[in-house]
Amino acid sequence: MPQTGKPDAAALLDWYDRHARVLPWRIAPKQSRSGKRPDPYHVWLSEVMLQQTQVATVRDYFHAFVTRWPNVRDLALAPEEDLLKAWAGLGYYRRARNLKRCAETVWHEHDGHFPGNAAALRELPGIGDYTSAAIAAIAFGEARPVVDGNVERVVSRLHAIGTPPRLAKPEIRAFVEAMLPAERPGDFAQAMMDLGATICTPKKPSCLLCPLAGACDAHVRGEEEAYPVREKKRPKPSRRGAAFVATDASGAVLLRQRGETGLLAGMSEVPTSGWTASRDGETGPQAAPFDATGYGAEWREAGRVSHVFTHFALDLTVWHCRVEERPPVGGWWSPPGELAGEALPTVMKKAIEVAMPNATRKRIQSTPS
Ligand code: ADE
Repeated sequence: MPQTGKPDAAALLDWYDRHARVLPWRIAPKQSRSGKRPDPYHVWLSEVMLQQTQVATVRDYFHAFVTRWPNVRDLALAPEEDLLKAWAGLGYYRRARNLKRCAETVWHEHDGHFPGNAAALRELPGIGDYTSAAIAAIAFGEARPVVDGNVERVVSRLHAIGTPPRLAKPEIRAFVEAMLPAERPGDFAQAMMDLGATICTPKKPSCLLCPLAGACDAHVRGEEEAYPVREKKRPKPSRRGAAFVATDASGAVLLRQRGETGLLAGMSEVPTSGWTASRDGETGPQAAPFDATGYGAEWREAGRVSHVFTHFALDLTVWHCRVEERPPVGGWWSPPGELAGEALPTVMKKAIEVAMPNATRKRIQSTPS
C-alpha cells in the first residue's frame, strides 16, 4: 500500500485564500491574514443556524436576523415570540429559545461581549463543544479543533478511518489537532469545512482539485467513497395522529400554542390529537377540538401528511371544517394575512396546505419573514 505524507495545513490555507466561499458572516481571507476578525455575534448566530441547516438556507435567515436584530443587545431584548416566528422553518426550536437565553446572558452578564475563549463560551446557554470551538477559533483566533460533519468526512478519508465517525470522534479530533496551525485557526476550521462542502463531497469528490489529495489515504487507495465508513441505519419508529384545521368564514385559521417543553416546544400549531415521539394519537374526528355540528359545519378528511422528525416519522390525517361562527375554544384565530408570520413548524404548514385552497396556501410559504 503506498504511504501518504502528513496533511499540510499550509497547503489547505493556501487553497482557502483562493477558494473560500463568500458568506455573509465571514471576512475575506485577505482581511483575516492582516489580523482582522469577524463579528462574534455574526459567527455565533451563523454557527447556531448552521448546526441544522444548509448554508444556502442559512444565508436568508442570517440576513433576516441581522437586519432585524443587528447586535446581541437587540436580540436579548426582542420578544421571544418574534424570535420564534423568525426562526420558523429552521427547526429545532429549543435552539431558538437558547439563542434568546444566550443573547440575554451575554448582554446582562458579559457587558454585551461574547467571552473570548472556548471554555467560557461553553458555559453559555445552547453552546456545546462544537459551537464553542467554532466561535473561539473563528471569532477569537483560539487554536481549537472544529469538527462538524464535513470535517469528519475529510478526516475519515485522509486517514482511511475504519470506523463510522460517530464511533471515531476522539480519533478524528486528534487528527485535526495534529494538523492545527498556530496562525489562522479560524480560517483553517472554515477551510476544512469548505473543502468538505465543495471538494471532498459525499459522492464523487473532486480529488484532482484537492490540496490534500497527496496526503489522503483513501485517495491513494482509490477508495474515496468507501469513507467515512457507514453505519447500518435503524428504521425510525412510525407514529400516527390527526391535525384539525378549522377555518371561519373570513378564512382565519384556529391555532394554539404547544407546551413549553418537548417536541416543537412553544411553537404554534393547529389542534392535533395527542401524538408524541413514543405514542400514536387518535386519527379520527373524535379527537377534534370541538363538535363542528353545533357550528353549521362538519369535519371532513382533507388528506394525509407525512413528516420525518429526527427520531420518528409521523403520518397525520388532516381534518378540515369551515365554521359559520367561531366556537369558544382555546387558542386564537389567525387571519389569512397573518398566517405567514405565525411560528408554525413545517409539519403544521403542510397540514394547513392540505386543508386549504391554493389561494390561501401561498400565504404561509413565505418564511423567512
Ligand atoms: N458550517 C458550519 N460553520 C460553517 C462556517 N463557518 N462556514 C461554512 N460552513 C459552516
